[in-house]
Amino acid sequence: MTTSAYQLAIIGGGPGGYVAAIRAAQLGFKVAIIEKEKNLGGTCLNWGCIPSKALLTSTEHYHAAQEKFSAHGITFKELQVDIPTLMKRKEGVVGNMAKGIDFLMKKNKIDRINGFARFLDANSVEVDNNGTKQTVTADRFLIATGSVPIELPFLKFDGETVVSSDQAIAFPKAPKSLLVIGAGAIGLELGSVWKRLGTEVKVLEFLPRIAPGFDLEVATHLQRSLTKQGIQFHLKTKVESAKVTKNSVTLEGSEEGKPCTFTAEKVLVAVGRKPFFEGLGLEKVGVQLTARNRIQVDSHFRTNIPTIFAIGDVIDGPMLAHKAEEDGVAFAELLAGKPGHVNYDLVPGVVYTSPEGAGVGLTEDQCKEKGLAIKIGKFNFMGNGRAVAADAAEGFVKIIADAKSDRVLGFHILSANASELIAEAVLLMEFGGSSEDLARTIHAHPTTTEALKEAALAVEGRALHA
Ligand code: NAI
Repeated sequence: MTTSAYQLAIIGGGPGGYVAAIRAAQLGFKVAIIEKEKNLGGTCLNWGCIPSKALLTSTEHYHAAQEKFSAHGITFKELQVDIPTLMKRKEGVVGNMAKGIDFLMKKNKIDRINGFARFLDANSVEVDNNGTKQTVTADRFLIATGSVPIELPFLKFDGETVVSSDQAIAFPKAPKSLLVIGAGAIGLELGSVWKRLGTEVKVLEFLPRIAPGFDLEVATHLQRSLTKQGIQFHLKTKVESAKVTKNSVTLEGSEEGKPCTFTAEKVLVAVGRKPFFEGLGLEKVGVQLTARNRIQVDSHFRTNIPTIFAIGDVIDGPMLAHKAEEDGVAFAELLAGKPGHVNYDLVPGVVYTSPEGAGVGLTEDQCKEKGLAIKIGKFNFMGNGRAVAADAAEGFVKIIADAKSDRVLGFHILSANASELIAEAVLLMEFGGSSEDLARTIHAHPTTTEALKEAALAVEGRALHA
């Protein structure tokens, strides 16, 4: 009888995979993690969440220096931005975090195997590292191979003129003009980065609104704000064909039913992502997919093959790093016979624009679709002393509570630090809290968190500073 080299081999070292590896190792499993790229951390660390946040921070500083500093009495003779330095800083951030993950793998005695894995059978994969092949055996495999950008059939990525987010985080200089197809998180965040660096940015969106998935009121205010910052939006716009040359791209289609044409130096296609499991050999072992082409799993992350599991972007649910991490932890705990659990109703969503948009739970439209009787409390940051002092008073907090029970059903924020503020809302809702619970909770003064409490008070029409 042959024994497997590992109790658990994880394919894919993104936030889903490496977090699952750590938790499984903590619980006593002998774990290997197989990754085709040089760094662990996946899309999130190498091309997504982290590098984009580094660029957003740098360009926000630049924008603030241009637009806001003079009101604080800070002036300078000449303001310059050096894009190679800005990119080098971003790469430094990514490199440091990647080293941190390597350290965590060593600390938890997780074996790192480099190369591209392909299933041979339900208990073994072949790992190809630039032509050097090895077979890795394990009692169980976890697929955490993530996702890749969706390509439009008439607009193939060439990495130069037609780009995905992978290249749009690394342009060596600001393009003169950039078309962005898709007003989701990627389009809005990277559109903001390049607009702040001087690029003319036009966002073309199929839907009549931006930021799908976020509360419509947040999206509408965000669009107004980004428009003021100079981003041009073309909603109800369908791109149907394209002409691409080395230095320019022309897109044709329709805007509100009328023919339209757009030309720019580059186009960023940000129309969503799709699960990545090409070349993994799923068909060879017979792993079943859903109708939406994701890997089919049950509530314990089990595929139809007893030794193969899957988490993160390859299974159903929002393609978000924090969702994948929670999947990873719950998977490992369930494997160890513990009560692992993910509350998919409370996955917060954030768009890191300026101001940021954040939401958790139901939107107002979703409540209406479900026919729920609700009450809403809102508070504007103009009434929050800390936000005004910080020159960050744009935005609002909106709480949706059940009309009868007062239980909070949805929480939506547009503000400078909405990504941080939303955590309090998630916690409140995780405990099944009511707007009254929040309204009676003491918040330090002066902080922007007071706006959350004020919105809770506003649910019963008793906000103090509105
Ligand atoms: P998305 O799905 O969020 O948005 C894509 C947008 O493109 C939608 O508004 C859609 O209506 C539009 N669209 C689709 N086809 C189109 C067409 N042919 N013409 C015009 N518009 C079209 O996708 P996105 O922004 O590419 O992000 C991919 C994934 O990565 C999402 O799951 C997103 O949540 C995640 N992500 C999350 C971030 C965050 O949490 N801040 C940051 C970046 C990505």
